[in-house]
Amino acid sequence: MKIVEATEEHLFIIQSLSDKIWPPTFADILTEEQIVYMMDMMYSTDSLKKQMGELNHHYLLAQEDGEYLGFVSYETNYKEENITKVHKIYVLPSLHGKGVGCFFINTVGEIAMKNGNKELSLNVNRLNKAIDFYKKMGFEIVKTEDIDIGNGFLMEDYIMNKKL
Ligand SMILES: CC(C)(COP(=O)(O)OP(=O)(O)OC[C@H]1O[C@@H](n2cnc3c(N)ncnc32)[C@H](O)[C@@H]1OP(=O)(O)O)[C@@H](O)C(=O)NCCC(=O)NCCS
Repeated sequence: MKIVEATEEHLFIIQSLSDKIWPPTFADILTEEQIVYMMDMMYSTDSLKKQMGELNHHYLLAQEDGEYLGFVSYETNYKEENITKVHKIYVLPSLHGKGVGCFFINTVGEIAMKNGNKELSLNVNRLNKAIDFYKKMGFEIVKTEDIDIGNGFLMEDYIMNKKL
């Protein structure tokens, strides 16, 4: 398995992966309307270009035998602190449990440490099974956060952190 740093050339790959991963992940957690709204907010071409070009989000893709397996995005020095924010981590459903997520967290952890960051931080929906994955990876819940994302929708999250 290798890591490819995504550029604007890979936007359609990120979009195609999120189309396959988002609906099954959130079908039992969010309404279909909220899934469509959030996917547009996060994965439209304009949004991805802004994240990469202006907001300092880096996207990494995992690739094996020419196939893309998932992606992670991160931002070092988040809010000018010694924290790397893991904005997104998504692996194709058929490949869960095979080590890709762990590989992503370890890779981002190494990048964070090279940048002098001391902690990884992320938001996760309070009903998402990924919470147990994060606990296994050494994260702990530090806060509960409800974020108003417009159109009457809320993100009902935990903030989880992992010391590096
Ligand atoms: C969460 C996710 C990224 C984890 O990636 P993954 O490739 O399946 O995880 P890994 O195979 O690297 O698992 C690492 C360890 O965590 C464990 N683990 C993974 N998912 C788990 C879960 N839901 N509950 C409990 N343990 C879990 C694995 O068994 C493994 O343990 P081991 O080291 O003892 O074998 C992946 O399941 C995913 O993409 N989920 C859907 C999208 C999502 O919810 N993303 C997070 C949004 S905040």
